[in-house]
Order: sequence, then C-alpha cells, then structure tokens
Amino acid sequence: MIKFILNNESIETDLPSGMVLADYIRYKECLTGTKLGCREGDCGACTILVGTRVNSEMIYESVTSCLMPLGNAESKHIVTVEGVNIIGLNKIQAAMTNEGGTQCGFCTPGFIVSLCGFALSKGSKSQEEGILAIAGNICRCTGYKSIERAVEHIVKELEGLDGNNRLDWLIENDFLPSYFSGIAARLKNYEGKEINLATHQQKVFVGGGTDLYVQRPQEMLPVEIVHTAQREDLKGIWKASGHCHIGASTSTEALKQSPLIQSLSPNSDHFFNLISSLQIRNMATVAGNLVNASPIGDLAVFLLALDSNIVLNDNGALREIPLKDFFQGYKTLDKKESEFVQEVNFALPRAKHYFNFEKVCKRTYLDIASVNTAINIECNNHGKVIKAGLAAGGVAPVPKYLAQTSAFLVGKQINQALLEESLDLAQKEVSPISDVRGSVEYKRLLLRQLMKAHYQVLFPDVYLA
Ligand SMILES: Cc1cc2nc3c(=O)[nH]c(=O)nc-3n(C[C@H](O)[C@H](O)[C@H](O)COP(=O)(O)OP(=O)(O)OC[C@H]3O[C@@H](n4cnc5c(N)ncnc54)[C@H](O)[C@@H]3O)c2cc1C
Ligand code: FES
Ligand code: FES
Repeated sequence: MIKFILNNESIETDLPSGMVLADYIRYKECLTGTKLGCREGDCGACTILVGTRVNSEMIYESVTSCLMPLGNAESKHIVTVEGVNIIGLNKIQAAMTNEGGTQCGFCTPGFIVSLCGFALSKGSKSQEEGILAIAGNICRCTGYKSIERAVEHIVKELEGLDGNNRLDWLIENDFLPSYFSGIAARLKNYEGKEINLATHQQKVFVGGGTDLYVQRPQEMLPVEIVHTAQREDLKGIWKASGHCHIGASTSTEALKQSPLIQSLSPNSDHFFNLISSLQIRNMATVAGNLVNASPIGDLAVFLLALDSNIVLNDNGALREIPLKDFFQGYKTLDKKESEFVQEVNFALPRAKHYFNFEKVCKRTYLDIASVNTAINIECNNHGKVIKAGLAAGGVAPVPKYLAQTSAFLVGKQINQALLEESLDLAQKEVSPISDVRGSVEYKRLLLRQLMKAHYQVLFPDVYLA
C-alpha cells in the first residue's frame, strides 16, 4: 500500500510502485492539468512538486512526474497544478496571464508549478534564480520574453517574503491555497515506513528513476522495486576524519547546495547548472549516476577526479573500492547484482587545492556531454603538485580516470611546459569512438581544449594558451 497526499486529498493505493506518477495523476485521478509531452524529462510539461516533511517543516522540490515512480511518492505531499489553485488566480498564474506568458497553454501548468517551487524554496529570490527554476520547462509558442517578464513580476511580488514564516506568508499573499499550512501535521502520521534493502533479490533498485524510466519504462511496471531514494539514511553529505561522505541516494541538487561540495571551487554552482535541469537534479541520485555507468556521466567524472571510493553493501556486508576500479568496461561494473551502493567518499583537500569541471554538449545547458572532464590538483606551499586527479567522459567506454596523466603531474612544479606535456600524455590514455555526439577527432580535440580550459581557469598566471 502506498500512502501520500495528493494536493489536499489523502491517497492510499495498491497500484504497482513502479507505475509512472504522471500516469497515476492523469489516468487514475483524472487531474489532467499535468501534461505529458516528451516522457523523457526534457520538456517540463509534467512538472509537479514533491513535498517532504523534514523536522516538522515542509521542503518542496520540483520534479518531472513522467520519470517518477509512484513508490517514490510514499509519505510525500504531491502537488499538481490543480493543487495551487485559490479562488481567482494565484500570484504566479496572474503574472503569467498578465504578461502574455501563455498561448496554447500546453506548457503553462509546468511553468506555474516550477515557479510555485521557486516561491516555496529557501534559495534567493533573484531574477536569475527564478529563470533557473524554469530552465527545465520548454515552451514552443511564447518566445520566452513574456515568461521572463512574468518571472520579473513574481520576483517583485516576493520581495516582502518572510523567510521565517514562508508558508504562511505565501498563503496570506495569494501564492498558495490555505490547505498547505496543515500538510506537515498530516504527514506526521505517515512517517516510519521501512524500506528493506536486505531482501532485494529479484528486485530492481530505483533511485530517482531519471535513467531507468528513460531507458526502459515498460519494464518497470511488472517488477518489484526497491526505492533507494526513499531511504533517508542513504542521503546526506557529511565530513568525518578528513573525508567527505556522500550518501548514495543524495540528489544532484543536494550536492549543488552543499557547503562541503561548494568548498571545492568558487565555480561550483556553475558546474551543477551544467547538469540537467532543476527538476532532474532534484530526483537524480549519486548512485544512479554511477551505476548507470554512462561513459559521459557528469557525477562519475566529477567524483573520479577527486579519487573517490565507493562503498557497496551486500546484505550488511560492506565493501569499499576505488571508484576508478568500479568501472570495468562498457556498462560493466565491479558490482554483484545483490549489492547496492551505500555511499561515496573522498579525502577533502588539505593543501592549496584547485578543482575544475568542464563540459561541452551540443547545447550549453540541459544536455548530455560530448566530452566532460574534471581535475583536482593539490600543491604544497612552493607550488609543487602533491596530488592530482584528472578524469574525462566521452573518450573511453567508461568514465575514465586518466591515471598516467594524473601520476605524471605529481611531484612537479606547475609551469607551462609541464601542463603542455600533460595534454599530449592524456591523448595516449583515451580511445574515443565516433557517435552522434561527435567524431573521434572532435572528441580528442575537445579533451585537449577542455584541459587547456582547466589550466587557464586554475593557473591563469602560469598557463597561456
Ligand atoms: C532530461 C535528463 C537530463 C539529464 N542530464 C544529465 C546530465 O546533464 N548529466 C548526467 O550525468 N546525467 C544526466 N541525466 C541522466 C540521469 O539523470 C543521471 O545519471 C542520474 O544521476 C541517474 O540517477 P537516478 O537516481 O535517477 O537513477 P535511476 O534511474 O534511479 O537508476 C539508474 C541505475 O542505478 C541503479 N541504482 C540506483 N540507485 C542504486 C543504489 N543505491 N545501488 C545500486 N544501484 C542503484 C538502478 O538500478 C539503475 O540501474 C539526465 C537524465 C534526464 C532524463
Ligand atoms: S513529459 Fe516532458 S518532462 Fe515529463
Ligand atoms: S504556450 Fe504553447 S507551448 Fe508554451
């Protein structure tokens, strides 16, 4: 039995937990405001909010319901466009209408819900953040300028938002209906449902579902699913014994918001904005990114450069291995079927450190990489490299740790000649193939150029391209 609150209604259902939530919403509950466009997480028409009770408070996140399994709704508050209606138009609906932000209307519910998520979020209420909140919503009609004006309008309306009393303020100021104020208390009764990872033979692990539900959605309905994203104990980013530990079910957006991850680079926010849309980042887990074993997985490359370890759990027996050894061949992992990923960890840089991530896609944003790469360098006070990790995606059958190039940099003084030599060495370690994302020659050139970009960003006084 899956229990959750849908808008203002308590739901209990025995339908398969692998069913897509958008289908449940539209075809079981007949809430047809949630639209289905691509069913691949790209268009945002199916955007809903998922509210989680954390310490008696509600945290709302926008997600694409076309990729979300019904089972991940357990104990949550699910909000569709119908659930944000008040008498008359709410402030967000009014801004979209007044600024001409809707024409055929197909995309509009998704925009409205994403912008409600923006109003509800704890983040800054700047125009930039407002636009980022709808970066995963596509509109074929308006040309976006009118939608941008609507966001401007909403940002102005939110100027008086009382951060300590967010929900009440949003209700009093006609952003949300009043039933929102009672949701945290109602969800208290839902807490404590156990998700057993110990009896998982013959079952499928599902994190956010953003890979599985794109690759093989039909297969998800009949199977029994272990909803790892529902396991709160597998979430979080914490520091212990000089290491950063990341729970397997931590979302990509939680990584973006983490002060520990932000401490790696002043450009950290930008790196994560290059990874999918907010809706997908809110769902996509770290384990999902590693286990799907895509040779261009962004988190895989990011974590490889940091020389991370991965911890696997087999019925309570833990096994920790270097992440670089986890990827054995194309979509082949050092992982038994019965093992689930528990966490990833890496030693936090102690010395003077430099971290950078670069990615080139056919589109700058909201696209999978043609080639991506991350680098982590630690130097002593005299500028000598004491630790180096370079990783790249799209240049091998696996997300590739460039072991020889990384080792080559260690023990040496950073200078132009050294860095130039490393560009050639890296070329010997990679074996890209031609595919829809580019030819062999293009990918080799991209890696060279992206490594130059690393060096220019990190060592602007030393490296002149
Ligand atoms: C529109 C869109 C844009 C995207 N953009 C990007 C992008 O820019 N960069 C990028 O890298 N990826 C991108 N992705 C891919 C995807 O979002 C990520 O790879 C994501 O991290 C997958 O995580 P998930 O939890 O959703 O995986 P799921 O689909 O839940 O699972 C993926 C695999 O991991 C396994 N799994 C999940 N959790 C565990 C666990 N704890 N233990 C063992 N196995 C587990 C599942 O069984 C499955 O085999 C995008 C996807 C979409 C739909
Ligand atoms: S239908 Fe396009 S993102 Fe869900
Ligand atoms: S108004 Fe038609 S797709 Fe946006």
